[in-house]
Amino acid sequence: MSQSPPPTEPLIRNISDTAQWAAVYRARETDRPDALFRDPLARRLAGSRGEQIANTLPDGNKNLWTWVTRTYLFDQFISEQIKDGVDMVVNLAAGLDARPYRMALPSSVRWIEVDLPEILTYKEEILAGEKPICQLERIRCDLASVSARRELFDKLGQRAKRTLIVSEGFITYLSPDEAGALAQDLAVPSSFHRWVLDMMSPGLLKMLQKRIGSHLSEAGAPFKFGPPEGPEFFVPFGWKPIDVRSLFKTAGKLKRLPFFLKLMSFLPEAKGPKGSNFWSGICLFEKK
Ligand SMILES: C[S@@+](CC[C@H](N)C(=O)[O-])C[C@H]1O[C@@H](n2cnc3c(N)ncnc32)[C@H](O)[C@@H]1O
Repeated sequence: MSQSPPPTEPLIRNISDTAQWAAVYRARETDRPDALFRDPLARRLAGSRGEQIANTLPDGNKNLWTWVTRTYLFDQFISEQIKDGVDMVVNLAAGLDARPYRMALPSSVRWIEVDLPEILTYKEEILAGEKPICQLERIRCDLASVSARRELFDKLGQRAKRTLIVSEGFITYLSPDEAGALAQDLAVPSSFHRWVLDMMSPGLLKMLQKRIGSHLSEAGAPFKFGPPEGPEFFVPFGWKPIDVRSLFKTAGKLKRLPFFLKLMSFLPEAKGPKGSNFWSGICLFEKK
């Protein structure tokens, strides 16, 4: 992976470049004196390509609160689940996430990062001199391959008593059929106990497809998932939502919204499916 994209290349070359895009916002949060979390490795991981993506995409520097609140809420869920007895975390499509280096984790926790080979090689080169806090392992696996992921889930399933699956910034790139099939495969190992993921409403999906869809489609990574059922989508595939936290509401409480949005955040959110409303949230699921 080159650091400085030549001008002839598309801004986002493939789905793994979205990992550098996500890392930029963690780097920017880290620079703030009142940071909600600090990720000192994020700047190096994001590289110049990450900065260029954020600086070029429409609204790329506008909605920082969504990215930061997403990370904040995932951190919260992960910490709570580890306190609750999770002994293994499997981070699917981990990208350039550096939680095993920056979170207050017990050293005994096993943390498995799964992603495509190229991005994990890039990450390992950058993090070569760094020491994780817990027991970190990286596994190269194309999660679109049903046989490869079933084999992986089966092996991982035998290695822990209580596993938390994390998938941050991943499900959005799957079609409803693909998301359902992945959920079904994750429901098989008995130790895969809980799953935390981010998702959006059909209304927000449509708006984002319009605003930035062309850049993502060009890279073969369009946003596809924003089911009308909301988190209930996963129930027929073996996962029931047990805790859903709204990005917008949380960002309001954290005082990270611009003035007008802050006023709107005091209004109650519609219960149930969000339809054409712009909504996104982090959802914790339990195996049925
Ligand atoms: C937006 S990034 C999110 C990365 C990280 N979870 C985060 O929040 O910063 C999407 C990630 O999904 C990974 N990914 C996409 N398709 C994948 C697949 N079929 N198998 C494994 N990883 C995949 C990409 O390589 C990339 O790292």
